[in-house]
Amino acid sequence: MVNAIELKQVSKHFTRDGAVTQALSDIDLTIEPGSFVSLIGPSGCGKSTMLRLIAGLAFPDGGRVAARGEAVTGPGADRGFMFQEHNLFPWLTISENIGFGLRARHDKGDIEARVAEMLDLVGLAEFADAYPHQLSGGMCQRASLARALAGRPSTLLLDEPLGALDAFTRMNIQSEIERIWQEEHMTMIMVTHDVDEAVYLSDTVIVMTARPGKIVARIPIKLSRPRPRSSPDFFHYSARILDLLHYGGKQPEPEYFL
Ligand SMILES: Nc1ncnc2c1ncn2[C@@H]1O[C@H](COP(=O)(O)OP(=O)(O)OP(=O)(O)O)[C@@H](O)[C@H]1O
Ligand SMILES: [Mg+2]
Repeated sequence: MVNAIELKQVSKHFTRDGAVTQALSDIDLTIEPGSFVSLIGPSGCGKSTMLRLIAGLAFPDGGRVAARGEAVTGPGADRGFMFQEHNLFPWLTISENIGFGLRARHDKGDIEARVAEMLDLVGLAEFADAYPHQLSGGMCQRASLARALAGRPSTLLLDEPLGALDAFTRMNIQSEIERIWQEEHMTMIMVTHDVDEAVYLSDTVIVMTARPGKIVARIPIKLSRPRPRSSPDFFHYSARILDLLHYGGKQPEPEYFL
């Protein structure tokens, strides 16, 4: 089986005003087709940089990035990208936004039908002719997800896609993302700062540390779906990830009464 995405010994630095930042170092990662992988780690540890390398929007200094066995030489329709901000064009309606990429690359299929299908998938059919400012933040996030999905990418890269949402909308959209991932059989790679979100959605959680960004743990989440968020097993995984991120807190010393 060809891996959906493979990073081998990848490193990346940036130079600003003569100062060098080693953003990523020694990154080895293989992602199987159809899996859901989350990247979690402190701010500045190189998560967005890693997604940009996979998207072909940036290139490594050393090592190799491959998508479906081929070296990544630039962006491709096989890799959809959803940014943290919804980035919808304010002057286009929701359906025009969703069809934008397909029109731009003169997609041969029936664009109207695909847009209608995507609107249904994210539950926005009633808002096809609305403009982004007429939608709530969560609805804009869903429209943005629909736009990223419209081109049928085999891999979807999500950079903190739900970062700006309230906890309840966030949980609802997490379930929608899980449903879409299962229905469309795609590979999803998501950056998040939310440990519960990572445990809820991922087959594997990749935990990173900062400067230089390195992978410190790969945690397979072996819970059946949909995952009960309040179960002890779920809590066990989140606690383990929080510990790796050094937010687990110190356990109180046991008290002994003789
Ligand atoms: N274009 C750039 N020029 C200079 N430095 C950059 C550039 N892009 C990223 N960096 C640096 O690389 C490091 C990693 O940045 P990156 O955006 O990948 O972090 P991140 O893990 O996504 O952080 P966050 O969780 O805050 O989004 C940071 O120290 C950042 O300052
Ligand atoms: Mg980032």
